[in-house]
Amino acid sequence: MTTVLDIQRFKDEGRRFAVLTAYDFLSARILDEAGIPILLVGDSLGMVMLGHPTTLPVTLDDMLHHARAVARGSRQALLVGDLPFMSYQVSTEQAIASAGRFIQEAGMHAVKLEGGGPVIEITRRLAEIGIPVMGHLGLTPQSVHTMGGFKVQGKTDAQAARIMSDAKALEQAGAFSVVLEGMPSKLANTITQTLRIPTIGIGAGPGTDGQVLVLHDMLGLTTGKAPKFVKRYANLAEDIARAATAYSDDVRTGKFPGPEHEYSANGSAPAKDREEVRYGG
Ligand code: KIV
Repeated sequence: MTTVLDIQRFKDEGRRFAVLTAYDFLSARILDEAGIPILLVGDSLGMVMLGHPTTLPVTLDDMLHHARAVARGSRQALLVGDLPFMSYQVSTEQAIASAGRFIQEAGMHAVKLEGGGPVIEITRRLAEIGIPVMGHLGLTPQSVHTMGGFKVQGKTDAQAARIMSDAKALEQAGAFSVVLEGMPSKLANTITQTLRIPTIGIGAGPGTDGQVLVLHDMLGLTTGKAPKFVKRYANLAEDIARAATAYSDDVRTGKFPGPEHEYSANGSAPAKDREEVRYGG
């Protein structure tokens, strides 16, 4: 199984690595078997899976529900649960309780928290009690209203200096890695070269130690114009629409089900079919 020590070794050996979000059992199993070393149960699931306009409405219970499904699908990957808005900002005690639920009830191996400032002390406490922490700096979606929208951060010298000092403080506090989102590549490069722990970029250029993408963006399941930092490796939205239309046409015209889909009195039983298909359990 991939551990936080492996992730550090990747950086020490100069091996770049991929991280993907996962929100459900089946996609976790596919990504895990494909060898993706870190699966992030991101609060982006609020927008991708639940249809909210931001990540702010996502609750800890929403996250735990998806995290449990991901844990059931995964054997090898390091699993990181994203602490949602208002599950860690109230107090260190609240953060410990929320992070503890991810580990104890949902099979996660680590948690992610957004921001610097007060989050540094929370990170220190979580690391001290044995809960690995992934930091998240730059464009932090839970602060969308403070940022005035999903905007690139760290463009001014003052902003860049603040992000750099938060990154150093997170490392000092015991974070095992830090996501750098939505910032100029130059800043992400400088942070990556300064920190001992790995950086994981999204919209932060090619210079970080790892890269993370939202699975549904990468697969082309989200439609419309892809953000600049996304590369679509498939066009599954088109594939699904094509398959659904073909199925609907076949049902309408009587082509499906065909004779090969029928059970006869002495043929195979539905129970046996169900054993062969790879559901959970
Ligand atoms: O919620 C999420 O998916 C994330 C990643 C994009 C880093 O925070």
